[in-house]
Amino acid sequence: MAESRSVRELALGVLVRVARDGAHAAPLVDARGRDLPPRDRDLLRALVKKTLRGALRLDHVLARHLRQAPESLDAPVLAALRLGAAQLLLMDRIPAHAAVGETVAAAQAFAPKAAGLVNAVLRRVAEKETRPGAVLLPAGADPVRRLALETSHPEWLVARWVAAFGAAAAGAALAADEEDAPMDLLADPRVGTPEEIVAVLAKDGVEAVRSPWAPLALTVTGGVGAQHALVASGALAVIDVAAQAMVELVAAADVVADLAAAPGGKTRTLLATGRARKVVALERTPSRARRLAANLAAAGRREEVLVVRADAGRAPLPRNRFASVLLDAPCSGTGTLRKNPEIRLRLKPEDLTGFAETQRRLLSAALELVAPGGTLVYVTCSLEREENEDVVDSLLQVWPEFARVVPDAAGLPVPLAEAVAPDGTVRVLPGATHDGFSAIVLRKETLR
Ligand SMILES: C[S@@+](CC[C@H](N)C(=O)[O-])C[C@H]1O[C@@H](n2cnc3c(N)ncnc32)[C@H](O)[C@@H]1O
Repeated sequence: MAESRSVRELALGVLVRVARDGAHAAPLVDARGRDLPPRDRDLLRALVKKTLRGALRLDHVLARHLRQAPESLDAPVLAALRLGAAQLLLMDRIPAHAAVGETVAAAQAFAPKAAGLVNAVLRRVAEKETRPGAVLLPAGADPVRRLALETSHPEWLVARWVAAFGAAAAGAALAADEEDAPMDLLADPRVGTPEEIVAVLAKDGVEAVRSPWAPLALTVTGGVGAQHALVASGALAVIDVAAQAMVELVAAADVVADLAAAPGGKTRTLLATGRARKVVALERTPSRARRLAANLAAAGRREEVLVVRADAGRAPLPRNRFASVLLDAPCSGTGTLRKNPEIRLRLKPEDLTGFAETQRRLLSAALELVAPGGTLVYVTCSLEREENEDVVDSLLQVWPEFARVVPDAAGLPVPLAEAVAPDGTVRVLPGATHDGFSAIVLRKETLR
């Protein structure tokens, strides 16, 4: 029973599932926090988020008080130490005695034999370390290592981003991963114009403003958006503003094929913006296909979408027929590290090859569907070249009838236009207001 467990114990339970089973934190936090009073729910969310975001930095501090490397500890022990250290060093309002005492009590439930160790180490951290876990490296330390520790990202990823985007842009993207993401909404015309929706929300104490990223994008700036009836009922979808912007690249068509569609953010944006009158939405995972259908029903848009549960690599759809195709491919998610901080802890450079193989398979099948003269937009929430430019370029070698299109900046929202590189690759780095994405538009030449 959630009520009989302390918030620390619930948080530790989530952290252990994330570490042991490769679970995603956000849905677990939502599920376990559902029956808690709002204050405890917020605390649960903050504990998990701060611990996962700060884990690599916290490990560096913890190592000073351990006889073994933190990563060699059992998952529940390391999770408890990180949870305690996060409260001591990264969360302002938690007194040290509560951080240590309640974390040790939670550790009893998951690693009773190690509770003494957790207690001793956390006491030393409370005594010897200064908030917010300062003095990480001596002066003169390698700048990539320093940036990695200061922003709590894996060093290999920081080195890649610095090399690919430059130190300043990489530093800004890494810093953005530390910030809480605002809630963004899609102002579906079924509900009202953006102005009408802003007014309805305001009447109920939820402030929202229009975002420059996409025509129907709203950002909640005050109040509890999630509790508003329009959001809770699913009539208004929560969709990152840059995710909505990706749909601006999709050519308008009577029917758009959306080949990796759950939970339906881009399907809904396609319909709401009028880029598609109907959508054929594929999703391979049964539970996610059901969720997609339910989300569309909540939006009153179920009739406009044919949901097909199928592998997009073998799509049961007619070849050469779709004037507009969207493939929002499964990926490493390096553009979404603030919302999915656990990715920082588990992603390895070699994983990119596996993602790229899947992406090549799905894109190859997607290209088959495009009608002569039609376009395909390939999108990922990864910033990595291997999952984007390299995937597309390798396929263009065997599909000479396709060519990259440089999106016309004049027709795009300003922040999106600014993200278009000369070769047409769209790369949005994560920022304070949005997640990171990459996109490439391809056109199939008309057959002669
Ligand atoms: C990046 S998410 C899509 C997000 C979605 N387009 C949106 O905007 O809400 C990728 C989706 O592709 C699905 N997927 C993964 N492999 C697939 C495959 N072979 N065929 C179809 N869908 C697949 C995943 O289950 C996941 O729901």
